[in-house]
Amino acid sequence: MKKIRLTVNPGDEKSLIHKEIYSNFSEHLGRCIYEGIYVGENSDIPNIEGYRKDVIDFFKKIKLPILRWPGGCFADEYHWRDGIGEKSGRKKMINTHWGGLVEDNSFGTHEFMRFCELVGCEPYISGNVGSGTVEELSNWIEYMTFDGISPLANERKKNGREQPWKLKYLGIGNESWGCGGCMTPEYYCGEYRKYATYCRNYSGNELFKIACGPSADDYHWMEVVMQNIRWMVNGISLHYYTLPTNDWGHKGSATEFDDKEYYDTIRNTLKMEELVTRHGEIMNRFDPEKKIALVVDEWGTWYDVEPGTNPGFLYQQNTMRDAIVAAVNLNIFNNHSDRVHIANIAQAVNVLQAILLTEGDKTVTTPTYHVFDMYTPHMDATLVYSHMENEDVADGVPALSYSASKKDNEVTVTISNCSLTEEYSVDTSFGFEKITSGKGRILTAEAHSYNNFENPDRVTVKELEVKVENGKAVFTLPACCVVTVTLTI
Ligand code: AHR
Repeated sequence: MKKIRLTVNPGDEKSLIHKEIYSNFSEHLGRCIYEGIYVGENSDIPNIEGYRKDVIDFFKKIKLPILRWPGGCFADEYHWRDGIGEKSGRKKMINTHWGGLVEDNSFGTHEFMRFCELVGCEPYISGNVGSGTVEELSNWIEYMTFDGISPLANERKKNGREQPWKLKYLGIGNESWGCGGCMTPEYYCGEYRKYATYCRNYSGNELFKIACGPSADDYHWMEVVMQNIRWMVNGISLHYYTLPTNDWGHKGSATEFDDKEYYDTIRNTLKMEELVTRHGEIMNRFDPEKKIALVVDEWGTWYDVEPGTNPGFLYQQNTMRDAIVAAVNLNIFNNHSDRVHIANIAQAVNVLQAILLTEGDKTVTTPTYHVFDMYTPHMDATLVYSHMENEDVADGVPALSYSASKKDNEVTVTISNCSLTEEYSVDTSFGFEKITSGKGRILTAEAHSYNNFENPDRVTVKELEVKVENGKAVFTLPACCVVTVTLTI
């Protein structure tokens, strides 16, 4: 086993790791909302007011900070008035974008906001710019947040909600360069100005407005947005998905892959480092004080759908490879937390790199869920300096990804070892300080392993032995693992 050194300097404090980096995304897509989150009050599946009880509990356990809704591409076809009022009177439509499902609008504004209340997370509403109007979005904000007398506030009350909701996060357009309207960045900036002007702060509610940012490495989009609308945005989104093959026609299977495809997947995920660095550099030129957040509100793996499932439902399994992908991305976000303040993995339940999968009354936690669980100590902690010896295990793929944070006298280090063969013994020191105690948690399994309804606990978190001697800590990283080590000063 190779010996390597990890140095953490708890005195070298960097930026706050906003807990919102650990957020999620839920779209009217496949079985995310219906079946995944909402089953209706008459369902046999245990529920609270129609929302799956197990899903609420799993979200609470990982302290889910923000849930984004109603899309995605669906958001730019969504008309909020279809989803309010008596359910029997709500308009039915075909979700043409995602698999031709009948959308009965039984999950609308009131249902989403109530779900967030039950989970204890902040709602993030993605507004329709592509096929909507300024008036429609402006009215939606007034309907949700106005505390006075107005036809819209009265309508909300009539529909059962006396008090306005607090709504902080508002996306103004989703992928406006693509499914959200195929706009040029210059055209989008003109649209944004109008929409942002009329999305008002009512009754003490303060909107955090998120402009549509680039797809992956479209640096020109970022440049134009920063140049034209930076004075009226709080955040700018970035979307980047990990595909094993870089070919949207043949993305690759979620569960069947060889070693090359495995390492290609990790290499493609590591591109996130370059993206947040280079987009950050553009933002720095216009916003050196780093007031504007980079909001990575769609990220994760995107594979071919599970054989036999509706191609429009984007249902995929989730293996130990996905756990490594999640760990790598989250370490990148932590290490760039001076600029990345929010990130939403796509998506919460039954879609893409889901943290939960459901079938009837059963729910399984995926390896990705466990990574979110293991990373909770980083929430609202302070990023501190860390350095690890490292080596490439495939062309351009270092074995280890890591980040470290501090809260009070506790330091948390999260590490993933993506090597399929190498294990490492890690010698950890704190520079001038002494480590007094340590404990750890580990997620490890063969890369193809996953949890399913027959075997829900094949990949689960176990205790990791951490030995502390003479102010230093030693622990082992087996091949293909994610660990959290908590050390006390
Ligand atoms: O997450 C699935 C889709 O991916 C979203 O609807 C869209 O924004 C992105 O292209």
